[in-house]
Amino acid sequence: AKVAVLASGRGSNLAALLDAHARGELPVEFVLVGSDKAAAPALRLAEAAGIPTLALDPRSYPDRRAFDFDLFARIAASGAEWLVLAGFMRVLDGEALQPWVGRIINIHPSLLPKYRGLHTHRRALEACDAEHGASVHFVTAELDGGPVIAQACLSIEAGDDEERLAQRLLPLEHRLLPEVLRLLTEGRLRWDGQAPRFDGQLL
Ligand code: GRF
Repeated sequence: AKVAVLASGRGSNLAALLDAHARGELPVEFVLVGSDKAAAPALRLAEAAGIPTLALDPRSYPDRRAFDFDLFARIAASGAEWLVLAGFMRVLDGEALQPWVGRIINIHPSLLPKYRGLHTHRRALEACDAEHGASVHFVTAELDGGPVIAQACLSIEAGDDEERLAQRLLPLEHRLLPEVLRLLTEGRLRWDGQAPRFDGQLL
């Protein structure tokens, strides 16, 4: 299966995908890593792994919609069949995204449907939640609102602050995302427009 990844920043989730691939646990082909930030460390990781990269600057487009249509056209031209958002910090236009629905996933650092959007760790702490986690979900036009595929949970500890909680969650994200992508690309997990279904044990 041919996979494209979009990332705006550090790229630790991209690194987890590449590591799983290098270990032989994720039999896909990464055809493109794209970003809205030319300086994103994620692009350097992709270059080092020999994966074609794409950096598009939103400021050189008249509006968000124009950016999104061009982005998706280039992703389609890469031959990608699946698209993973791994820390891609932009809201996507619903119409531009439509042809990808069912083939595009995102990792979000909260136990959705709690805490869509930003500052999820802080919000979980402020709410005195006992648990926090990360979700991988199918992307729809609704921000962080598409059907959840799988989640990883941890208990919030007395010593947690925003940064520590984020740090403790990250290794769980790094297991979750490659595993979900593997199941999807193996055809063991699909979305028929109602609830996502999968066969077998996830983690
Ligand atoms: C992760 O916390 C991910 O859940 C969220 O953005 C962050 C990206 O981190 N969507 P990285 O760039 O993968 O290190």
